[in-house]
Amino acid sequence: MTSLTRRLGCLLGVLSLGTSLAHGQSISTVNGEEVTMLTGTKTQHSTTSIPTNLYQTYTTRITLGTTTGAESTIIASVSGNGTDVALTSSSASETSSATLSYLTGTNSHSTSTSNTTASSTESPKPVPTNTRPCNNYPEFCGRKYSNITEVGCHNSPFVRANSAAANQQLGVVDQLNDGVRFLQAQIQFPTNDSVPHFCHTTCDLFDAGPITEWLTTVKDWVVAHPYDVVTILLGNGNYSTPDFYVPHIEKTGILRYVFTPPVVPMALDDWPTLSHMILTGQRVVMFMDYMANQTAYPWLLDQFSQMWETPFDPVDQNFPCVVQRPPDLPADQAKNRLYLMNHNLNGEANLLGNVLNVPDLSRINVTNAAEGFGSLGLSANNCRSDWGRAPNVLNVDYYNMGEYPGSVFEAAARVNNVTYNRKCCGEEASSAGRIEAMLKVPLTLGLMWAAFWTLV
Ligand SMILES: *[C@@H]1O[C@H](CO)[C@@H](O)[C@H](O)[C@H]1NC(C)=O
Ligand SMILES: *[C@@H]1O[C@H](CO)[C@@H](O)[C@H](O)[C@H]1NC(C)=O
Ligand SMILES: *[C@@H]1O[C@H](CO)[C@@H](O)[C@H](O)[C@H]1NC(C)=O
Ligand SMILES: *[C@@H]1O[C@H](CO)[C@@H](O)[C@H](O)[C@H]1NC(C)=O
Ligand SMILES: *[C@@H]1O[C@H](CO)[C@@H](O)[C@H](O)[C@H]1NC(C)=O
Ligand SMILES: *[C@@H]1O[C@H](CO)[C@@H](O)[C@H](O)[C@H]1NC(C)=O
Ligand SMILES: *[C@@H]1O[C@H](CO)[C@@H](O)[C@H](O)[C@H]1NC(C)=O
Ligand SMILES: *[C@@H]1O[C@H](CO)[C@@H](O)[C@H](O)[C@H]1NC(C)=O
Repeated sequence: MTSLTRRLGCLLGVLSLGTSLAHGQSISTVNGEEVTMLTGTKTQHSTTSIPTNLYQTYTTRITLGTTTGAESTIIASVSGNGTDVALTSSSASETSSATLSYLTGTNSHSTSTSNTTASSTESPKPVPTNTRPCNNYPEFCGRKYSNITEVGCHNSPFVRANSAAANQQLGVVDQLNDGVRFLQAQIQFPTNDSVPHFCHTTCDLFDAGPITEWLTTVKDWVVAHPYDVVTILLGNGNYSTPDFYVPHIEKTGILRYVFTPPVVPMALDDWPTLSHMILTGQRVVMFMDYMANQTAYPWLLDQFSQMWETPFDPVDQNFPCVVQRPPDLPADQAKNRLYLMNHNLNGEANLLGNVLNVPDLSRINVTNAAEGFGSLGLSANNCRSDWGRAPNVLNVDYYNMGEYPGSVFEAAARVNNVTYNRKCCGEEASSAGRIEAMLKVPLTLGLMWAAFWTLV
């Protein structure tokens, strides 16, 4: 397998010299640094190899000993510059913190600016209106994690100009700044190396570096954005036990923010609200597709017992919204899990008899559009009609492209019943955002205290 893919790598190398070696079809090649970006027709035969391995099933729910107990310490990461502030309350409990839907706001029955000291001591008659966006929308704060649709980046780390093996044009910081909240990445081991890397199929074809680098970048973003919840889906390319990855994940410091589920498996209704996750400092949800062991690592969630997927690497513009993985999942069980809609249209390039799946850039405008045949928006709607609820993840290639820049976020906003009015893509005025965040911290902190004392 490795040698086959090495051969493919070589073939791509040959193509980058500008020679069209494709069999029986027109493929236009754009010369790149190392390999070649392919656009063009797809072949008929599909030899897509769908990843597969053992699928875990649970006959009973397992309740985990959680970190937030009766004498809980609620830790909220709310500082604008990344310093964590620990809020401790001897009486804070799961129940009381679960009711904290309001992160900040003004008294809707008062015209004066809110006096946070006063509101913490007076009775809380008026319900404050939340103005603090969670994952970019105030409406999301009070919603359960399982009741929100996020745009996901298929193969988030695979960013390289003019590479057939790339899936994104903009890096993970831009992805997050622009509103992507689900990041998928495949781990492999380079030949002769025990340090896991993010690699596409094999590290010979595309090596995005040690997982620690990308994960540290994500962690830094999470630290700087205290009102955001980010999900990472790790693809276990080598099907190794998690022990091979966990020390490297730990090294990045990201586990400080990781979400530890109260039960295994998490059914739809078990998921907390974004507010709850934010206030408890558990803002990174981490899944692994195969070989997760939640006995050993409760925070590394087994994907398929808790999230199913529509067909992998689709080549059909109709994007049927059916369960492909885990195989043979009964509909009633599927309806009680998160689900991910793969909407990364692939073209199959037939190169000297080898079939390679590459993102179909010739149709990306259509694929990532908010509406119309073959679009992200239409597929999300179809899924919603088929399953009674929208997908949790709209997994796309080249998220910044589409009908117009940002059309993927428009598609997500429509199924979320919110209004998308952000700039896209890759042009966030990051400094302005940070200053605003810092200014708001004291008020927010005050109100959080108020919420504590009035709700416990
Ligand atoms: C962050 O803010 C805290 C509290 O205002 C301050 O003590 C600390 O020096 C700041 N850290 C940085 C890196 O700016
Ligand atoms: C807020 O209320 C407290 C107590 O009611 C009062 O002492 C304080 O001056 C008020 N602060 C402002 C900014 O109004
Ligand atoms: C999902 O969120 C919407 C909007 O807040 C709400 O009306 C609906 O009841 C929620 N559904 C579930 C199952 O929580
Ligand atoms: C790695 O593999 C190559 C052959 O591909 C071999 O020559 C070498 O000794 C191996 N070990 C290291 C550490 O490179
Ligand atoms: C990759 O998987 C193979 C087969 O399970 C295993 O022998 C090998 O140790 C794994 N590689 C690493 C670096 O864990
Ligand atoms: C999962 O982890 C537990 C605790 O470390 C261990 O006893 C068990 O053998 C592991 N399961 C698998 C399938 O590796
Ligand atoms: C996609 O749309 C953009 C802007 O509307 C346009 O510049 C580009 O040529 C289109 N690409 C394709 C492949 O149609
Ligand atoms: C959005 O609105 C539609 C139509 O009113 C409704 O069916 C759906 O449940 C709503 N979704 C959310 C998450 O609020």
